[in-house]
Amino acid sequence: MHTKILKINRDAFSQSELHEAAGIIRNGGLVAFPTETVYGLGGNAFDPEAASRIYAAKGRPGDNPLIVHIADMDGLKEIVAQVPESAATLAARFWPGPMTLVMKKKSIVPERTTGGLDTVAVRMPVHPVAAALIRECGLPIAAPSANRSGRPSTTTAQHCIEDLDGIIPMIIDSGAVDIGLESTIVDCTGDIPVLLRPGGITLEMLRDAVGRVDIDPAITGPVDAGVKPRAPGMKYRHYAPEAELTIVTGSPERVQAKISELAEAARSGGKRVGIIATEESRDAYHDCDLKVMGLRSDESTVAHNLFAILREYDDDGVDVIYSEGFNDSGIGRAIMNRLRKAAGYRILEV
Ligand code: TXA
Ligand code: MG
Repeated sequence: MHTKILKINRDAFSQSELHEAAGIIRNGGLVAFPTETVYGLGGNAFDPEAASRIYAAKGRPGDNPLIVHIADMDGLKEIVAQVPESAATLAARFWPGPMTLVMKKKSIVPERTTGGLDTVAVRMPVHPVAAALIRECGLPIAAPSANRSGRPSTTTAQHCIEDLDGIIPMIIDSGAVDIGLESTIVDCTGDIPVLLRPGGITLEMLRDAVGRVDIDPAITGPVDAGVKPRAPGMKYRHYAPEAELTIVTGSPERVQAKISELAEAARSGGKRVGIIATEESRDAYHDCDLKVMGLRSDESTVAHNLFAILREYDDDGVDVIYSEGFNDSGIGRAIMNRLRKAAGYRILEV
């Protein structure tokens, strides 16, 4: 299949530029498109065949449900049976934006879209191209991250081309996304909202809006065999770089010393070594494939670059990667959640 690359300037475009893309989705096809979090692989959320095409294009198991993207609150009423109070409060505060809410679904949403669940995960993106595409379709868009299953999520159109060229009819290119990590997911089906995946809307922000918010244990540790995670996607090893990744946490001086020591040992064992550092620590490391994620003093810059750096290492073909860790608070919680999964929970505390 030929994949058309459609360039859209996010700051200056007309609705008519999205006519063809919307037509593809309305006719059951798939389009990769930018959102503020990561690029999405979109299809008609009401069409079970489109959901099947999404699973096939990603190589993703069919029991891992898709997020349904809407453009306004009318779109929400169309797909959920009722809006719990916590969801109404969170939506009023953080939509449109990088937050997904899980609610009981209406039967109009096919089970193939929700991986057989009777709930649906809903998000109202703030990215102008994503919002305009949903409006132009006149339909909610089901969209997982636009990567092949098991690879880091896509934060540029170039990443989407790497993973999906020749597999889908269109990729919309609006440059790099803003946040770089997938949306915060909150389960609003129970009495107390539960954080299922940390993201750009932080736990602190959620608690400020609704008071108590519990945390799904799958966020910080591996999911035990036999325990069903609330977000089915949490049980898969996501975002896996090809090299063996180890995260080192502790005080900056000890972390830098430990990583230097591990890197030296791996190098003398004949391995090609990558190190993931920050602007603040870059000068501590020598003789390695060093990548700087961003500023520790502004972790949003780290979030923005994380997936692109993991992809670069796949291209570089290093054997082992050592990464500095981050604090489990604010956006750092989301960064550590993705890093832990990418590392298969190989974490060293020094
Ligand atoms: O930022 C994002 O959320 C991006 C962009 C494209 O919007 N999308 C995204 O989708 O990250 P995906 O499919 O890569 O991740 C969806 C996550 C999975 O872990 C899935 O298990 C969970 O959401 N999920 C979807 N529906 C759910 C439901 N009804 N209940 C619990 N978890 C659900
Ligand atoms: Mg994903």
